Amino acid sequence: MLNLLFYNHLYNWYESNHRVLPWRETEDGYAIWLSEIILQQTRVAQGLDYYMRFIHRWPTVEALAAADESEVLREWQGLGYYSRARNLHKAAKLIVESREARAESREAIFPRTFEEIRALPGVGDYTAGAIASFAYNLPYPAMDGNVYRVIARLLDIDEAFDTSAGKKLFHRKIEELLDRENPRLFNSAIMEFGALYCTPVLGDNCTSCPLQEFCLGYAHHTAELLPARKPRPKVRDRWFTYHIYLCGDQTLIQRREAKDIWYHLYEFPCTETEGLKDERMKGERGIELTHVLSHQKIHARFIVRKVQKMPELPGTICIRWEELNDYALSRLTLRALDTIPHKA
Ligand code: ADE
Repeated sequence: MLNLLFYNHLYNWYESNHRVLPWRETEDGYAIWLSEIILQQTRVAQGLDYYMRFIHRWPTVEALAAADESEVLREWQGLGYYSRARNLHKAAKLIVESREARAESREAIFPRTFEEIRALPGVGDYTAGAIASFAYNLPYPAMDGNVYRVIARLLDIDEAFDTSAGKKLFHRKIEELLDRENPRLFNSAIMEFGALYCTPVLGDNCTSCPLQEFCLGYAHHTAELLPARKPRPKVRDRWFTYHIYLCGDQTLIQRREAKDIWYHLYEFPCTETEGLKDERMKGERGIELTHVLSHQKIHARFIVRKVQKMPELPGTICIRWEELNDYALSRLTLRALDTIPHKA
């Protein structure tokens, strides 16, 4: 059977080339879930630091559930997209509460079936498959972007994977290809192969690829062109002016209440304008930063205003500059703080 030889080649490659990572050394569902939520948001090199800090501070799901949301957001700071951190914390609380409601033993607290894992907030098909297979060796695929790329090339699939029809097609294909005897190894290996070898830019990797003989993309000279993607949605431009009031060692911050971006994170008082008009054109000097999010491009300007008396702005709170560290700040605000000399 083709698959046996294919698995053999893939697993040999994996044995010799994979990265040793702490979440691969454990079968603890909680630790693996934590790593996957962090890795939804960042690359392995940066994710590793966050993972080590989280697992050290909250080694069990009970510990995480007992934390304050604000502490979790603080620890998440720098990763962006804070709803992932909120869901992480919410899921930990739900897990602990449902275990208590069923008066179960202290063991096996993290959900152990695909359906229960998939039902957690912040967990989609990919993450549920990754946890179910990595932690419990259950036969579910874990299709991340790397795996989509490998499958698109191996099977020469020209359909975009980020459409609902494309997703269905790829899922059917990976279900056929999945090694049901060794789902943990299969998912780890194909994911790592995509991350390290079958990369977006191939160079001459195909020439000595261990899977070359199975690869239709190689045979048809289409590998480099795959995977296909649907056209990107248009990015919305927004213009924010931030006012950094300084009165002695004090400044003003406010919590974002709008649900569009950075919900419940803190930043300096902000006014949004349509384009580069009004006060932006008055020639006030400020720090200009462009911040790109998935669907929005923020053109931000930070203006430092030294004042004798703090203005009373509704919704703001007055804190000492040193206390900024105690608040979960938006990534853009953190970037601006990096560029402001000492305390401006
Ligand atoms: N990216 C997402 N999950 C991963 C994992 N378990 N190992 C390495 N990279 C990943």
